[in-house]
Amino acid sequence: MPSYAYFHKQFIPLSEAKIGVMTNALHYGTAVFEGIRGNWNSKQKQIYLFRLREHYERLRNGCRILKIDLPYTIDELCQITVELVEMCGFQEDIYIRPLAYKSAERLGVRLHDVEDDFLAFVIPWGPYLDVDKARCGISSWRRPEETPRAKITGLYINNALAKSETIENGFDEAIMLTSDGHVSEGSGENIFLVIDGKLVTPASYDNFLMGITRHTVIKLAQKELGIETIERRIDRSELYTAEECFFTGTAAHITPIAEIDHRKIGNGEIGEITKRLQQLYSEVIRGNNPKYLDWCTPVYKR
Ligand SMILES: Cc1ncc(COP(=O)(O)O)c(C=O)c1O
Repeated sequence: MPSYAYFHKQFIPLSEAKIGVMTNALHYGTAVFEGIRGNWNSKQKQIYLFRLREHYERLRNGCRILKIDLPYTIDELCQITVELVEMCGFQEDIYIRPLAYKSAERLGVRLHDVEDDFLAFVIPWGPYLDVDKARCGISSWRRPEETPRAKITGLYINNALAKSETIENGFDEAIMLTSDGHVSEGSGENIFLVIDGKLVTPASYDNFLMGITRHTVIKLAQKELGIETIERRIDRSELYTAEECFFTGTAAHITPIAEIDHRKIGNGEIGEITKRLQQLYSEVIRGNNPKYLDWCTPVYKR
């Protein structure tokens, strides 16, 4: 089944959507992106796009920072995405990648007076971290300080360095620390610990991407399990002694962490709270929990 892209204000086959070699964003990382999940509900035969508006709100904020003039309202972006997903017609979990980028084929490091554009495409994509529980390593590459809080392509270089370093060292995923050595996040996920039966996660000053899944998990834990989340600075050693630990992210969903730096977390199995959150989250994102349908945009199959 072919994938489609929204490119230069048109829906076209993904294989035909190409950019020139001098495109500014390619050289200087001057683009803002999103990752949005479409979750296939096999009983209802439809895909649910999860927290679509929130993803585009984050994209719009990133565009403000990068002086990208997004020519669409949030409603229009949502509508374009629904049409694109309908056109693709995938009957499986999908991933949508919107990108607002400095499209001028012009060199020079700057943001002003460089034309921009918006594109989006859809691909089928199953689990991001292809493991039931991840073995993690703390990377020597740190989360840089004083960077804009947005999903800006150029900011991902430390994450890529961290990921490759830890994969090449035999782990599944990297955990990154802040420049002063506190826990920040994974290379593409936020991180939670369970300590004394409560959720603990880095606070906003710890320099991570403010995840939509992070927000979802905090709400579900509070409303459905009565579990409070403490947002605070986390020391590296607390990772090793936590009762449970897991990643959250649009691509990674909730991925349990079994081991960090060759130390088992708890007994090295998926913890009880993590398991309950995984089950809840999986129902919510597939439109199976009526209480949270506001977060789900259904896309009907033709
Ligand atoms: C660096 C980083 N942190 C955290 C996240 C999780 O954010 P979200 O839950 O909004 O996908 C992502 C993924 O988008 C990410 O790339």
